[in-house]
This record gives sequence, structure tokens and C-alpha cells, in this order.
Amino acid sequence: MTQYTSTNDERESALQREYMQKAAGYVSDLRENLGRSPRCCVVTFGCQMNARDSEKLLGILTQIGYVSTDKEEEADFVIYNTCTVRDNANQRVYGRLGFLNNLKSKKPHLKIALCGCMMQEQSVIEKIKKSYRFVDLIFGTHNIFKLAQLLVTMFENQEMIIDIWQETDQIVEELPVSRKYPYKSGVNIMFGCNNFCSYCIVPYVRGRERSRDPKEIIREIERLVADGVVEVMLLGQNVNSYGMNLDVPMSFAQLLQEVEQIDGLKRIRFMTSHPKDLSDELIEVMKKSDKICRHLHLPLQAGSDRILSAMNRRYTKAQYLSLVDKIKSAIPDIAITTDIIVGFPGETLQDVEETIDVVRRVQFDNAFTFIYSKRTGTPAAAMENQVSDAVVREGFDKLLKTVQDTARERAALLQGQTMEALVEEVNEQDSSLMTGRLSNNMLVHFPADQSMIGQLVDVSLDVCHGFYYTGHIV
Ligand code: 5AD
Ligand code: SF4
Repeated sequence: MTQYTSTNDERESALQREYMQKAAGYVSDLRENLGRSPRCCVVTFGCQMNARDSEKLLGILTQIGYVSTDKEEEADFVIYNTCTVRDNANQRVYGRLGFLNNLKSKKPHLKIALCGCMMQEQSVIEKIKKSYRFVDLIFGTHNIFKLAQLLVTMFENQEMIIDIWQETDQIVEELPVSRKYPYKSGVNIMFGCNNFCSYCIVPYVRGRERSRDPKEIIREIERLVADGVVEVMLLGQNVNSYGMNLDVPMSFAQLLQEVEQIDGLKRIRFMTSHPKDLSDELIEVMKKSDKICRHLHLPLQAGSDRILSAMNRRYTKAQYLSLVDKIKSAIPDIAITTDIIVGFPGETLQDVEETIDVVRRVQFDNAFTFIYSKRTGTPAAAMENQVSDAVVREGFDKLLKTVQDTARERAALLQGQTMEALVEEVNEQDSSLMTGRLSNNMLVHFPADQSMIGQLVDVSLDVCHGFYYTGHIV
């Protein structure tokens, strides 16, 4: 599925297209040597932003002649698009690099590239230079559009190529994109983050907030719709502050209203909202909309005011609860999901009880719970009162149980109802079933034919199985 996205940097895009031609020449030489098409494998760690970036990387790679594979063992070029939000994401990358080193010793022409958030950290680069010398190419989050140029340099040199930018104001997008799904797509509306939550590394690895021109966003979505897309997910670290730094400022709610006008587009989602910036205007627009999905991901992070303040979240427990009240009374059928961190420096079991209290009161439809991970360079990493593993574990287990109980209760409420589902894919366990996604982001499995993928159908939610349903088309 190759499609072209829009740009505000025509000259750079033209240059990159020249590099694509040159890189295609090297890939063609490789094809002759191998006697078959060279294969590439793009592995994504982390969030939806990274998933979208990977589609851009794959778009360039397929354009220059690589064939995509999911299996690293079969690939001639492997690229890891990394995440660094928590340390376990980093550890997974180092673990898999050991495996790649083995592969490369059996297949010396294998090229290995690393990119994404983790590469924006100097300490990571030092470690790779020292202990993972077999890596061929390293770049970061700001210059993925340069992949073809970097590949040309890589093919022409033996040593490790490293190109990391600290910042950028460039948004270069007139380049191929290889979409994972024909019927839905992520669309970047902004890059970077200005919030500086004290635990979070994102502002350091993704840079300052930059909003895309609304006309470019609309044009991209129109092209996607013309290419078969019925659902878009507008992506940004903090979509609620979209447009504040544009030459002609525009609110996120205004952008949504424009996206809503696009003929043929059926569903609109967005990610992620910061509670401090969620406006009444947005609630009003969601309430009136036929296309904006009944789902809001609203990270809470913690329920104790003392911890929220140390996290620099800039809202209190009471403010979060009253925001949720306002949203639920305006849009009663909305599903609210959240992210929660346990074990932030100084957090006691008493503080975790405050978080649990919020979970009970809000009745989240789903919550992602994370154990605090110390990220070097963030203010929280320098705090002295880091919490012991035993205390973290106790709070985490109790929170997780509450989260699961309340989510189950919420899901049970919809059993027996009929709702619209977007048919997404064949069920992984049972190929006679298809998996559909409801507006509220829950999944339902039902008998249907593969030809229905990408269609919206009404499904009766016959049985609730805790976090998903089984049903039938009505
Ligand atoms: N430790 C644990 N979880 C974190 N998150 C962000 N930074 C950290 C960290 N240092 C979580 C937050 C965020 C989600 C994407 O990841 O809950 O919302
Ligand atoms: Fe996404 Fe943040 Fe991970 Fe980067 S560090 S991939 S922005 S979650």
C-alpha cells in the first residue's frame, strides 16, 4: 500500500527522491549477487508514533527495491525502530542485538540499522559504539526522512554511520509510506512535547512541540480516504495543545471539525490527550460528532496530589475527577482509558490508595499500568527518595486488581447490545471468525468473511469475556 504524504519542505523531498534512485541502484546490485529480491525487516518498539514512523521507513525501503518480511532471520537488512520510554524497552533491544550479531556472523552481507527514540540518548550511542560494533547505521527521530541518503552512505562505506540530530523544525513528508492496514491509518498532527513531566524522557528524545499545517493534514487524510482508508488516528504526544504554535493559531477542536467534513471518512480517533489542556470546546465537538469515536485516552499517572505535583502534571486529583464528570455527562457512552505509573520517587502505599480511589470512581474501561522506570536526564531520576521494589510491587498488584475488576464491570454493561464494528482482521485463534473494533475501542469476534475487512457492520455483543466480546452480525 504505497501512498504519498504532503510536505512543507519540497526541496528536501526532491533531494531525498534522488537518493532513493541512487539507493535503488545498490539494492539492484544486491539482487544480482543474491539471485533474488533483497528482503528487509522493520521491527517497531513503542508507541503509535513509532508505528507510523516505521510505515514511512518501509515506504522508502520498498520503493528502492526491498521486499518486506516479518522474519529477521530471512532479512538482508534489519532495522530496529526503538523506544526508550521505560528501561525494559531498551533492554529488549540490547537482547535482540545479540541475536542479530549471530545472524550476521552466518550472513556477512546482512546490514543492521537502529533508529528511533533510544538513539537520541548519548549514553546509548556510546554503548553501541563500544559493545555492538557490528551495527551499520544509526539515526534518530528527527531525520527518518533521510533514510535513502543514509543507506547510500552505508553502502559506500564500511564503518558504522551515525547521524543524530538534537532538534529540527523540518517536516519533510512528500515521501512514500507503506501502510500496515489498508482501511485505517495514523496521521501525525504534531511532533515533540513541551510538557516536561518529571519522569518522562519524551521531550528530550522527540524535541519541542511542532504542529503540522492543518491544510497539509487535511490533504493527507483526503488522499488516504481516496486510497481506501475509513478510519484515521490523529497522532501527537499532546494533541490538546495542537495548533498553539502555528502562524495562524488553531485549536485541536477546530482541526477535528475540519477533519469531520472529509467525505468518505467514517471514523476519527486521536492520541494522546493531556488532562490539563482538554477544553470544553473539544467535549462539545466530540458530543456533536458522528465520526469521532466514543473513546478518550486520558492519562492519569497518579491520584495523589503530592505525587501529581512532583510529576509536574499540573492538575490535581479533584480537577481530574471533575473533568471526567464533565466528559461523562456530556457523552454518556464514552469509554475512558488511562495510563498509570506506580513507584514514582517518594510514592507511598497511601499515595497508591489515592490512585486506586480514582480508578474506582472513574471506572476506567481500560488502564495501562506501569512500574516507574528511572530515565537518566529527567528531573525524577535525580530525586533521592526512590521507592524499594517490595513497596512498588505491593502497590502495583493492588492497583492492577482494581483496574481489572472495574474494566470487567464496565465491559459487562454492554453485553446484549448491538453496536457498529469496523471489521479489522481474521481472528488469530479461529480463522472462521473476524475481529472487529467498536467505536469505544473494545474488540468483538464474530463469524464473517474475510472480504468484509474494512467495512462497518452492526454486531450484537452476545457474550462478554471480560475484555472482549463474541457476537454475530445483525
Ligand atoms: N516510567 C514508567 N512509565 C512511564 N511512562 C512514561 N515515562 C515513564 C517512566 N519513566 C508511561 C506514562 C505514559 C506512557 C506512555 O508511559 O504512563 O503515559
Ligand atoms: Fe513513543 Fe515515547 Fe517510546 Fe518514543 S519514547 S517510541 S515517543 S513512547
